[in-house]
Amino acid sequence: MPDHRVSLEVLPMEAPVLELMPTGRILLVDDEAGVRRVLERLLNAEGYEVLQAVDGEQALTIAWAHSIDTILLDMRMPGMSGLDVCRRLRSDPRTTHTPVVFLTGLDDRGFKREALQAGATDFLGKPFDKVELLARLRNTVRVKLYHDNLDRERSDLRHVVQRSMQDLDTATARLERLQSELEVARHETIERLARAAEYRDDETAAHLHRMSHYCHLLARSAGLDEYTAEALRIASPMHDVGKIGIPDHILLKPGRLTGDEFTVMKQHAEIGYRILCDSNSQLMKLAASIAHTHHEKWNGSGYPRALHGEAIPIEGRIAAIADVFDALTSNRPYKLAWSIDDALDYMRTGRGQHFDPNLVDLFIDSLDAVLQIRDRFQET
Ligand code: C2E
Ligand code: SIN
Ligand code: SIN
Ligand code: SIN
Ligand code: FE
Ligand code: FE
Repeated sequence: MPDHRVSLEVLPMEAPVLELMPTGRILLVDDEAGVRRVLERLLNAEGYEVLQAVDGEQALTIAWAHSIDTILLDMRMPGMSGLDVCRRLRSDPRTTHTPVVFLTGLDDRGFKREALQAGATDFLGKPFDKVELLARLRNTVRVKLYHDNLDRERSDLRHVVQRSMQDLDTATARLERLQSELEVARHETIERLARAAEYRDDETAAHLHRMSHYCHLLARSAGLDEYTAEALRIASPMHDVGKIGIPDHILLKPGRLTGDEFTVMKQHAEIGYRILCDSNSQLMKLAASIAHTHHEKWNGSGYPRALHGEAIPIEGRIAAIADVFDALTSNRPYKLAWSIDDALDYMRTGRGQHFDPNLVDLFIDSLDAVLQIRDRFQET
C-alpha cells in the first residue's frame, strides 16, 4: 500500500529554493458553506491561495485543471464520498502526488484505515485546532512543492538527455557520411596514384587494367579467396607508383639503360613502398607490399631486398608474373611488344628462376582467361 502521509524525513535540511516558492494553493472541498468560509479566512490570512469545491465532482474538475498543493477533503459529502474522490485523485497522474488531508468528523474515525488505503496523506479532526491545521498544511504544501521541484529537475534532465541523444544521432549520421566519402576517396586515391605513375612512363591505363586483372585471375587460380583476389586487383595498379621518383631521362629513355641508370631505376620499388607504407588501410598495406616486392625473384636475384622463394609475399610473386607478362607483350619507350608465344617462352624459362614455379604453371594453364583479359583491355 503506498503511504501518502507526510514524512518529515523526506524534507531536505536546507532547501533555500523552497523559501522562494509561493506559499501554496489549497483546494477546499466541503459541502458545508460555513466550514468553507471559516477555513478560507484562516488560510487566506496565512497567505495561501484558496480554491473551493462543494462536492466530489467539482473537486476533481478543479484538481485536474489547476496545480494544487494540498487538498482539504471532507470525508462525508452528498454524492461522491471523500474516499472515492481520494481514490480517483490517486489514480490520475495529474494528482497522484497531490497531498490529500481528510477533514474527519467524530463519526468518521473508523474510516482512517480505509482512507489511508485510498491514499490519504493526513487527517484533521473537526472541529479544527487552528495551530495544528496550519502546521500540518505547511508540511504537506512544502512536501508537494519539493516534489514539484524534483519533477521539474527530472524533466529538465530528461530534455537535456534527449537533446544529447539527438545531437549524437546527428553526429553519427555525419560520421557515417564522412566514412562513406572516405571510402570513395580511398578508392579514388588508388586510381589517381596509379594514373600518376602511368603518365610518367607512358604505361597506359589499359596496361594497368590488364595487369590488375591478371593478378585477380592468378590469385583465384592459386586458391586465394575472392576478397583477397579483389583486394589484389584494386591494389596492384600501384605497383610502379615509385616511378614518379625516377628522372625523365632515365624513365623515358628510348634505348637500353646503362648499369648506373638501371641502379637508379631499381629504386622505384623502394620509393613506391615508402609512398604507400604506414597506412591503416589493409588495401594500402597490400599495395605497399606489392610495390616493394614485385621485382623480387624466386631464385633470390631480384631487388630491392634479394628475397628468396616464399620469403617473397605471395602478392609480390603474383604481381611479378602479371607485370612481366604484360610488359613483354606491350610496347615500351625502350622496346616493341613481344608476341604471346615469345612471352610465354620467357615465362617458362623463368620458372623457378625469376618466377614462383607453381604460379607460372597456374598462369599458363589459364591462358584462355589471360587472353580474354588482354582482348578486353586493348590499347586505344
Ligand atoms: P616495365 O617496363 O614495367 O617492365 C617490368 C618488368 O618486365 C621488367 O623489370 C622486366 O622484368 C620485364 N621486362 C620488360 N621489358 C622487358 C624486355 O624487353 N626484356 C626482358 N627480358 N624483360 C623485360 P625490370 O627489368 O626490373 O625493369 C623495371 C623497369 O625499368 C621497367 O618497367 C622499365 O620501366 C625500366 N626499364 C628496364 N629496362 C629498361 C631499358 O632498357 N630501357 C628503359 N628506358 N627502361 C627500362
Ligand atoms: C582497377 O584499377 O581497379 C582496375 C580497373 C577495372 O576495373 O578494370
Ligand atoms: C576497402 O574496402 O577499401 C578495403 C578495406 C581497407 O581499406 O581497410
Ligand atoms: C608491408 O606489407 O609492410 C611490406 C612488406 C614487404 O614489402 O614485403
Ligand atoms: Fe616495377
Ligand atoms: Fe609495370
